[in-house]
Amino acid sequence: MLTKQRKLILSETQRDMMRAAGQANAALLDYVRPHVKPGITTGKIDQMIHDWTYGHGYRAATLGYQKYPKSCCTSVNEVICHGIPDDYELKEGDIINVDITTVVDGWHGDQSETFLLGEVSEEKRAVTQCAFDCMHLAIDALTPGCRVATIGEAVVPEAEGRGFTVVREYVGHGLGKQFHLDPSIPHFPNRQSRIDRLFPGMCFTIEPMINAGSRYTQCDKADGWTVRTKDGRPSAQFEHSILMTESGPEILTQTKDGPKKGHKF
Ligand code: MF3
Ligand code: CO
Ligand code: CO
Repeated sequence: MLTKQRKLILSETQRDMMRAAGQANAALLDYVRPHVKPGITTGKIDQMIHDWTYGHGYRAATLGYQKYPKSCCTSVNEVICHGIPDDYELKEGDIINVDITTVVDGWHGDQSETFLLGEVSEEKRAVTQCAFDCMHLAIDALTPGCRVATIGEAVVPEAEGRGFTVVREYVGHGLGKQFHLDPSIPHFPNRQSRIDRLFPGMCFTIEPMINAGSRYTQCDKADGWTVRTKDGRPSAQFEHSILMTESGPEILTQTKDGPKKGHKF
């Protein structure tokens, strides 16, 4: 057990590698943000992400991951996560989550943002606001050595208090030289998350998926990836990569132009 734990604790040099990967990923999100507008296809967004990534000598972690075919995930409206970019043309009133994972010198940066396209319904706006606020509440609740359950304990009351629900089947994760590592980071408290702790030197994601209606999910049988809400109502998500330090959490994927804590959508 001890050796397993020790692997998760990054040295100062390794932390700097994760900082570089997170910063590259955030720069990529800043690069695509102005293009996420009505009229562009999700496939074109993916192509921009692919070209930027490989043009910089980096790698897109999703491309070829368990046979996933694209360089990002684009999840529109009732799609919760893992939407596959295609020829769908974005239109006013849509919300879309773009989730990008860049590998720099073997280290991963993983983050996502939900975009509101023009005037959207009040339900879509509110569920997007809720996902954003839940992510920041969870980050702010973290302290060195805290239990993973701290995250779920922050997210669930906030989301349910606003009349929304928290997805349980898909969770955050440890991050480093691999895309998905222990510990699992559920956005609700459970038995394991009450045991697992977030010690200085650990990297992980916080990526709450919040549904406007019921929490239940359905994975597309045809493509094997696209996860939708069972009731067809909208869902929103934000994700940051986090490094726990001796003085608290550090966001590794801070963008220059994206929404900051306290942002009102
Ligand atoms: N980026 C997602 C996450 O935050 C995982 C996508 S895996 C894929 O963990 F294969 F669907 F791309
Ligand atoms: Co992600
Ligand atoms: Co992730």
